[in-house]
Amino acid sequence: MRAEVVVVDKKNPDRSVMEKAGRILKNGGLVAFPTETVYGLGGNALDPKASMKIYAAKGRPSDNPLIIHIAEFGKLGAIVSDIPEKAKILAKKYWPGPLTMILPKADIVPRETTGGLDSVAVRFPSDPIAQSLIRAAGGYVAAPSANTSGRPSPTLAEHVEEDLGDAIDMILDGGPVGIGLESTIVDFTEEIPVVLRPGYISLEMLKETLGEVRMDKGLLITDSSVHPKAPGMKYRHYAPKADLSVVEGSAEKVIRYINAAAAEAKERGETVGILATDETASRYKKGIVRSIGSRADEEEIARHLYEVLRNFDSDEVSAIYSEAFYTPKMGQAIMNRLLKAAGHKIIHISEEEEK
Ligand code: TXA
Ligand code: MG
Repeated sequence: MRAEVVVVDKKNPDRSVMEKAGRILKNGGLVAFPTETVYGLGGNALDPKASMKIYAAKGRPSDNPLIIHIAEFGKLGAIVSDIPEKAKILAKKYWPGPLTMILPKADIVPRETTGGLDSVAVRFPSDPIAQSLIRAAGGYVAAPSANTSGRPSPTLAEHVEEDLGDAIDMILDGGPVGIGLESTIVDFTEEIPVVLRPGYISLEMLKETLGEVRMDKGLLITDSSVHPKAPGMKYRHYAPKADLSVVEGSAEKVIRYINAAAAEAKERGETVGILATDETASRYKKGIVRSIGSRADEEEIARHLYEVLRNFDSDEVSAIYSEAFYTPKMGQAIMNRLLKAAGHKIIHISEEEEK
């Protein structure tokens, strides 16, 4: 099966296309679609067979639960057994948007969709194509990111085609996504809300609305004895093919270190990839240099991260060196993904002897 790829106008999604996509989902098929964060791989959330198909298409372990996408707040009540007051407040502030909430599940949600858990992840995306598809499919679409398990999440329809073009029925191409990193996940099954995955909505923004909010311990400690609560966060996700190291320190020292590493590799007959910014790209003289965007625009950095990592996969590089991005608002989310891609390999240049 080769997926049918259809370009859809975000401002005015074609009715007949959306009806066709909705029918595919109602009949148990799979449709990839854009959201404001990353592209999702959709299936009917209330159909256990559709969820199993999603796991198979992605090559994803079936103990890693899916997010149910809704397009109307009123649809939430049927799939959860309780909506705590704080969850209502947060939904009011950030839905539709890049926020996923973990709540106790209702019986109609199959365990196949929740990876066997008693809780369910729910999100109300703001993308008009996503909303139109969810409505056409009957209201409940289970969707993980539309990448093969272990690859960076897709931020363009082309990425979905590359990974899943042979495994699904249809791809709705709505152009590049707006945010580029997956939604912030907040767990409401404990007394104090817990962030299980950082995203565009930062810890500070959540605290402003909810008061006390904790970060999942498994995100802060890289010690292997503490597991993140979101099953998906424990896997080595977003990994490029070549070994990636993040180099952290003052700009000048980072440039010097990476240039030295690139020169050494060249002597061995190897080429390195360098993940740089518009401000620094011209300072790297050897290797394949890709700019993620300007340091002045952290949203641009977030939007391009996965695309740049994917592009390095098509280069013959022996290793990749990346600058670090502790930017003010999205830095926590950007560094979470970048460090996961690097398997937490970080070189602190200030402590390290300079090359
Ligand atoms: O932005 C997004 O959230 C995208 C778009 C498509 O909506 N979706 C996405 O889904 O990133 P996925 O499956 O790639 O990531 C879902 C994460 C995984 O880490 C999973 O383990 C966690 O959410 N998760 C889902 N249900 C959970 C639950 N009941 N308890 C704890 N973690 C859960
Ligand atoms: Mg994913």
